[in-house]
Amino acid sequence: MANLNETKQRDQWGSRIGFILAAAGSAVGLGNIWKFPYLAGANGGGAFVIVYFAILIVLGFTLMMAELTLGRHTQLGAVGAFRKLSKKWSWVGGFGVLAGFLILSFYSVVGGWVIKYIVGGLTGSLYTLDFGSYIGTTAEPIVYHAVFMILTLVIVLGGISGGIEKAAKILMPALFVMLILTMIRSLTLPGSFEGVKFLLQPDFSKINGEVILAALGQVFFSLSLGMGCMVTYGSYLSKEENLVSSSMSIPLLDTAAALIAGLAILPAVFAFNMEPGAGPVLLFVTLPQVFQQMPLGSLFGIAFFVLVLFAALSSSISLLEVVVTYFVDEKNWDRKKSTIVMSALIFLIGIPSSLGMGIWGHLTPILENGIMDSVGFITDKVLLPIGAMMLLIFIGWVWGLDNAKKEVTNDGKIPFALFPVWGFLVKFAAPAAIAYIFIKGLPIW
Ligand code: PFF
Repeated sequence: MANLNETKQRDQWGSRIGFILAAAGSAVGLGNIWKFPYLAGANGGGAFVIVYFAILIVLGFTLMMAELTLGRHTQLGAVGAFRKLSKKWSWVGGFGVLAGFLILSFYSVVGGWVIKYIVGGLTGSLYTLDFGSYIGTTAEPIVYHAVFMILTLVIVLGGISGGIEKAAKILMPALFVMLILTMIRSLTLPGSFEGVKFLLQPDFSKINGEVILAALGQVFFSLSLGMGCMVTYGSYLSKEENLVSSSMSIPLLDTAAALIAGLAILPAVFAFNMEPGAGPVLLFVTLPQVFQQMPLGSLFGIAFFVLVLFAALSSSISLLEVVVTYFVDEKNWDRKKSTIVMSALIFLIGIPSSLGMGIWGHLTPILENGIMDSVGFITDKVLLPIGAMMLLIFIGWVWGLDNAKKEVTNDGKIPFALFPVWGFLVKFAAPAAIAYIFIKGLPIW
């Protein structure tokens, strides 16, 4: 089918800083605030952080640049970018759209819990909320899941420069300010140093194949890579933009946010002699108890959960945008229809993840940890690594490094001395490393 939207005027980011904030907004999310501190603490502290950094530097930067370059070159979203250059490869983008769809379905359920906590803070019931039984109830978490999807939808309806960029320009600076304030509060509590040790002291005996795959999945998830999100955001970039520096700034901001979040959360947990705990428990059970014991804790608690909501929204809009752009670019739907229909579908697909916490708790499709974890396993540890590997192979071997070089350097206008290193990584080292980590890390051995 002829593609009307390729000839239509395409929306663009209004400014460089707007784009960086939106892309960093996509990257910084629940993944940084709740997953990173816990994963690091549980998987060898500083040793995990070192593995994370190594993967970030070698694969994170490489892939970030690859995705932005492909998106900007084609000016099309996840699927269209592949289709335009080689139709046979469209399925890789299709994997990405599927991953975005699935991630948002459970991300929004967690976003709903965050809204519930803000409401709890405002109505004075934050400390009496029993998290375990709350998320197991049937109706209310689904209602908050709907509220979160509606907030996401409203921003995405506003479009790229009018909706997503405007939101990111407010949400991101506010988020960093609040994270830093919380970190200072946390680090100045007596006894907080144990938390710093928990996060950073290396224990290399904990590092094995599964931990490395977990770090890889976390780098991709946290940087919004491997599913065409940065291809999509790159497709709204102007040809003047410097891709080299953007590909550096986004991972740097994301990693700063993850470390600051770790230093905001864990020291307080230790200062109050709490168990660091696993997964959502850290954010939704341990932290409210910490706030309860702090001077001005209620205020801090509300501010903190508002901050988490900001982070979650600036990520969820990017997940929805991947799906919406697909239907706009490839199926010629209008933006409004695509946004509304897809939000409704994602909401419906998310319902089992919510019910899996309660009445459907006995259904554990893949792992032993219920529906949400199973969906998370398929996305983080299967779809994202495969999507990332195929995108690199596509750029290295199908589209070709010469073409990529023209796009990365804006036709030779931007110097990029490390291009041969990047090229080697794209063509050989990074796909091989991902394949190796993926195969070694699957819990089937
Ligand atoms: N990067 C987000 C986080 O860390 O919470 C989650 C995410 C957003 C993953 C967008 C993938 C994506 F395309």
